[in-house]
Amino acid sequence: MPSTVAIGREARLQEDLAAVRRRTLDLIAHLSTADLERVIDPILSPLVWDLGHIAAYEDLWCVHRHDPARPPLLHAGLAGHYDAFETPRAVRGDLRILGHAGALDYLAAVRERTLDALERLGAGDGFVHEMVLRHELQHTETMRQAMATAGLLEEDPPAQPPAPRRAPGGAAWARIPGGTHALGAPDGVFAYDNERPRHAVDVPPFRIARRPVTNASWLTFAEGGGYVRREWWSDEGWAWKEEYDITHHAGVAAGAPDAPVCHVSWFEADAFARAHDARLPTEAEWEKAATSDQLDVVGAVWEWTSTEFHGYPGFTAHPYREYSEVFFDRGYRVLRGGSWATDPRVATRTFRNWDLPERRQIFSGVRLARPEED
Ligand code: AVJ
Ligand code: FE
Repeated sequence: MPSTVAIGREARLQEDLAAVRRRTLDLIAHLSTADLERVIDPILSPLVWDLGHIAAYEDLWCVHRHDPARPPLLHAGLAGHYDAFETPRAVRGDLRILGHAGALDYLAAVRERTLDALERLGAGDGFVHEMVLRHELQHTETMRQAMATAGLLEEDPPAQPPAPRRAPGGAAWARIPGGTHALGAPDGVFAYDNERPRHAVDVPPFRIARRPVTNASWLTFAEGGGYVRREWWSDEGWAWKEEYDITHHAGVAAGAPDAPVCHVSWFEADAFARAHDARLPTEAEWEKAATSDQLDVVGAVWEWTSTEFHGYPGFTAHPYREYSEVFFDRGYRVLRGGSWATDPRVATRTFRNWDLPERRQIFSGVRLARPEED
């Protein structure tokens, strides 16, 4: 009975689309028009840009590209402004984009078109709708970054649970045996293009911390010369620290001592690891450990890996190059896991996030790795 299955899936999709949208709108419901429209930080978009971009992306994929009749975009004249690649974050404050009310109308109008197309055409293999759902969820995390920066989050990163203290006598490190790991997403599940093709990698034995680094440990590091001891820093990290006169991490002292440290850059994470006679895990190590069921990886913070963002061997862009391919081999570092602000639908164990090594606006923390003891 394939048709029954198909109907069930489309109804489910409609519910999911509605639920995700409700959460997006709830997130910003308490904000003033001024806060939604202002530039909070040049490396982040005004919040109304994200709203318009969510609508434009949905219109492009669920209507224009999904419908073989290729209906024109609803706001074709704004498509360039809402294209993340054509319009970098730094200039998004200067654009004549939709304001608060206009962006909300745009979201609602596109959603009608999406539901109409879904009803007429079905969801096909479902890939595009799943991609659009996850896109909105990813942007609500970006919006939370902006809101956290501006002090506009209604809740403190509440959901950032204290790192559970390790059981008395329990080891702080998980030993992961060496062997082959099938890196990437298996067939038959939704995954982004950068998670494929799945391929075998040889991972030597290693140890990985059972918990991410806490605020308390970070304070000890900072007070113990963490930002002064040249030998702990990479050349690039030291140059970054000097150029921006970074001498500590302001957020850490304010955080709960047992909570995972958050908003640390890759450069800092790398220095912290060296100061602890450790290193960051590679992304293959991270994924192998995460699938070994020895680790609590349900993320409070994204975890920096030592791996530079690149395409897996045999990579093919799907369905568009600007999701991942244009970021490959440009100095971005891979983060794994997920933060308190990441929806579980996005935070799979094969999901690859990435950012530049100097960035601190993301909800990023550290998990240490070490070679196997002899
Ligand atoms: C995967 C979080 C790096 O925000 O640039 C959003 C996700 N891609 N719209 C980003 C994304 C297109 C992406 N990250
Ligand atoms: Fe986007």
